Amino acid sequence: MKGIILAGGTGSRLYPNTLATSKQLLPVYDKPMIYYPLSVLMLAGIREILIISTAEDLPRFQRLFGSGEELGLCFSYQVQLKPEGIAQAFLLAEEFIAGESVSLILGDNIFYGSSLRSLLQNCVTHDHGGIIFGYQVHNPSRYGVIDFDEAFKVRGVVEKPENPPSSFAITGLYFYDHQVVSIAKNLKPSKRGELEITDVNQIYLEKGQLQVKLFEKGFAWLDTGTHDALHKASSYVQTIQERQGIQIACIEELAFINGWISLEQLESLAVKYQASEYGLYLKAFVKEAGSLTFSF
Ligand code: TTP
Repeated sequence: MKGIILAGGTGSRLYPNTLATSKQLLPVYDKPMIYYPLSVLMLAGIREILIISTAEDLPRFQRLFGSGEELGLCFSYQVQLKPEGIAQAFLLAEEFIAGESVSLILGDNIFYGSSLRSLLQNCVTHDHGGIIFGYQVHNPSRYGVIDFDEAFKVRGVVEKPENPPSSFAITGLYFYDHQVVSIAKNLKPSKRGELEITDVNQIYLEKGQLQVKLFEKGFAWLDTGTHDALHKASSYVQTIQERQGIQIACIEELAFINGWISLEQLESLAVKYQASEYGLYLKAFVKEAGSLTFSF
């Protein structure tokens, strides 16, 4: 399965922070925002990843990640000239997808919870139809929303409804089979001029090929779109990391755990970052992992 991170847009709700840089490069506590969705694709075991962003910002992502080799990944890059909708990603990525199944994640979405790896790995092995995720929020009108019937069966998905049919928002993580490109090609722009991901989901639903999974209550899906939400997401990450002595979205650690880079490669990354707490965490991890390898 291939992976796409959609990291364009205008980020206008974060002005003036996003006047000179991309929203998805702003820090969420101690690392760039895009590390969080990237870590989700890595947890799913996806190694071939396309980053889509604006013409202005794409070189910044290239500077950050390069080819991806350092992480045992393979990155491709694609410009989206105008933010003409989330579903446009599949048109821009047609060559990259090359008839395979694909996972799309929005570059400003943060997911955190204990069962995430096994949940994602189930999705990756399922290569027929689409899979989307619902999450209960108090302000569903800002999102695509799931419409359930009396038996809690999904009967529709609606984009930013004034009167939401449920409190379950659709998160920015999607899995689709090879049909997604032809579905996206047949979409008409919505009233706001965008190719809507909700329309893609509605088509899969009408074909009887859409699975809707609900994240459990303790799971965290965090918003980063406004100053307040970004600040809260940073505080959340800081609190969990300090309390548990772990790192959320530590992509170097994940690359090692997934067996994509060696301990020596991880160590050289840790040395590169050692002036920061992030680097010191990696150094401590290398030391521990080295002694574990030794004692076994
Ligand atoms: P939004 O939050 O809807 O838009 P935005 O990021 O431009 O922010 P604002 O509303 O403050 O102007 O987009 C959600 C995510 O999807 C975000 O990561 C940007 C990305 N996106 C694109 O990359 N291209 C697009 O065409 C659209 C619609 C969104």
